[in-house]
Amino acid sequence: MFEKLQSKWKVSGWNLFLVLVTFALGGSLCGYLGRKLLLLTGLEGGVLWFILYIIVVTLLWPLCVLLVSVPLGQFRFFRNYISRIIGKMKGSKPAPIAIFASGTGSNADKIIQHFSGHKLGVISLVVSDKADAGVLEIARRNNINTLIINKKQLDAGTDLLSELSKRKIQWIVLAGFLQKIPPALVKAYPNRILNIHPALLPKYGGKGMYGMHVHRAVLANQERESGITIHLVDDHYDHGETIFQATCPVAESDSPETLAKKVQALEHTHFPRVIEEILQNPR
Ligand code: GRF
Repeated sequence: MFEKLQSKWKVSGWNLFLVLVTFALGGSLCGYLGRKLLLLTGLEGGVLWFILYIIVVTLLWPLCVLLVSVPLGQFRFFRNYISRIIGKMKGSKPAPIAIFASGTGSNADKIIQHFSGHKLGVISLVVSDKADAGVLEIARRNNINTLIINKKQLDAGTDLLSELSKRKIQWIVLAGFLQKIPPALVKAYPNRILNIHPALLPKYGGKGMYGMHVHRAVLANQERESGITIHLVDDHYDHGETIFQATCPVAESDSPETLAKKVQALEHTHFPRVIEEILQNPR
């Protein structure tokens, strides 16, 4: 049962313990405060008291668990948990996601497949800075709107932002997007822009570190291990909070191309799943 909860809520064993303690303490606090509040009505037992009690504890419960979750370090879990319940009650729709990509779009393809018919997210737009990028063809094949922007338009930000808000985009996923994201966009989407980098950051990141340049540098330094990093985007290249890393061995016989293949396999396996996880538990 505990393993099931752990995998459902995606928490470690210790965090599961703290989450359960928060549920217990928050629930007790809620029951206690509910009874205290009902004393003010002067009612003592009876059907009316019972109905009022249910209403009061239902309203108090989110506040009580959030309150208890703070000292136990579980605020983020409960904030997301409660917003999921509210979302379910409102019958909330999948969050619109925009993918930004400059290349062939093999990651975009996997993400589009993963989120097709998904209840948490939907790929609503593919943005590219290259009119001939393969990713645009993938988008068209999947009936997804596309937008081509040049660096000037990206840096100016305003048209892009209004385009994104017109489509109610809530998340941006960079899947091989070669331009730097301008501060205005980072500000408009705080902790809502994800990037994948084909190496184990903080090594082999920064300006000019993309594609084969990364794999050549890893091999030149005779690293025994490489991999992928999925991270939030801030105002610096390859710098925001790391969400997930996966590794692969680097063999002496590896060429940049064979290493790229290993890294790409990791990207395809993990990126869609990690996006789903962050949609479920935003920072
Ligand atoms: C991936 O290796 C990704 O890590 C990097 O750009 C590449 C995009 O590849 N940021 P694809 O276009 O998804 O095939």
